[in-house]
Amino acid sequence: MTWTEPSSTATALLLLGRGSDPSSEKGVDCPGELPAPSDPDLVARAAAAKAALGDRLFVLGHHYQRDEVIQFADVTGDSFKLARDAAARPQAEYIVFCGVHFMAESADILTAPEQRVILPDLAAGCSMADMAVLGQVEKAWDRLGELGLADGTVPITYMNSSADIKGFVGRSGGTVCTSSNAERALRWAFERGERVIFLPDQHLGRNTAVLQLGLSLDDCVLYDPHKPHGGLTPEQLTSAKVILWRGHCSVHGRFSLDSVREVRERVPGVNVLVHPECKHEVVLAADHVGSTEYIIRTIEAAPAGSKWAIGTELNLVRRLGNAHPDKQIMFLDRTVCYCSTMNRIDLPHLVWALEELVAGRVVNEITVDADTAHHARVALAQMLALP
Ligand code: 13P
Ligand code: SF4
Repeated sequence: MTWTEPSSTATALLLLGRGSDPSSEKGVDCPGELPAPSDPDLVARAAAAKAALGDRLFVLGHHYQRDEVIQFADVTGDSFKLARDAAARPQAEYIVFCGVHFMAESADILTAPEQRVILPDLAAGCSMADMAVLGQVEKAWDRLGELGLADGTVPITYMNSSADIKGFVGRSGGTVCTSSNAERALRWAFERGERVIFLPDQHLGRNTAVLQLGLSLDDCVLYDPHKPHGGLTPEQLTSAKVILWRGHCSVHGRFSLDSVREVRERVPGVNVLVHPECKHEVVLAADHVGSTEYIIRTIEAAPAGSKWAIGTELNLVRRLGNAHPDKQIMFLDRTVCYCSTMNRIDLPHLVWALEELVAGRVVNEITVDADTAHHARVALAQMLALP
């Protein structure tokens, strides 16, 4: 696949919520007649469709999904746990993935060919995953090759990347990682090479390299795919230990040092708990940092009366607050919003996708081509085998 800039028409259509973006890992068009959000029977309709499909259906819900959707999930989890859960249900004919596009792709890669993976709204992509496009990554890899550095460089991609990128990493001797095993992935890579290229989240890469592996900020360089040669000199690439891709999460990247200072002033004794997709200075100023599953476990283990400002997606923080009324749980920043693409999956889309399945029609199926899936599976299997 080659990387193409979206045309101005495509961009205009994208802004209108129609058409498709040729440079995105997701679609933006959702066919079909959706039920009205005001329909008072939506909950009953979703329940009836689920009951009609029985064991043929398995519904997965990411922790960042809305409550109205999570109530219908058979399992909830982070992106990797959900992919594994999908793979552990070979009897399910339909896997309905309430999450974003790259997660549904991973589920398709890890499930049997006859199992169908459905994303209730095709516009549920991930802006971070879109920040690393295969053509850009191949160009960066070619540059490393020209400089004689590719052999000593191990690619690692965060789970939050397209199947194309996972396939590239699988073909190039690297691994996938998640926010809970990024440290192990980096250590594994440094046993095989002298440098790592980390895609696409610069913050997870930097936070892990510096705070968990003890590298310095100067050991890391930032590769900007929109600049010639990534904006880096041959000397910078040669001396780098970690080449960070210039990508970030549009939700976690918005928490700031000011958010941390403000909440500490406003709430004496508060514990600040953030996801490693947050900026380095935010993570440094926080008391605890960890993956979504770590955040959930930390709050579950916290004593009654403790105070927590959490820097991760708002749906999860609100659910944690509701589940732990004996603890004071707040969102780290008053202005940061929900993940807009996670929130695309709402009850009307879920009801529509389920009722179509009951009628024998598979809508919004996510499929990864066999060659890409093969190589992406290699990178995912490598992650599973990390020591
Ligand atoms: P996890 O699902 O691995 O917790 O990642 C957080 C995230 O941003 C998912 O989109
Ligand atoms: Fe992507 Fe961030 Fe949304 Fe996760 S929270 S889907 S990384 S934009």
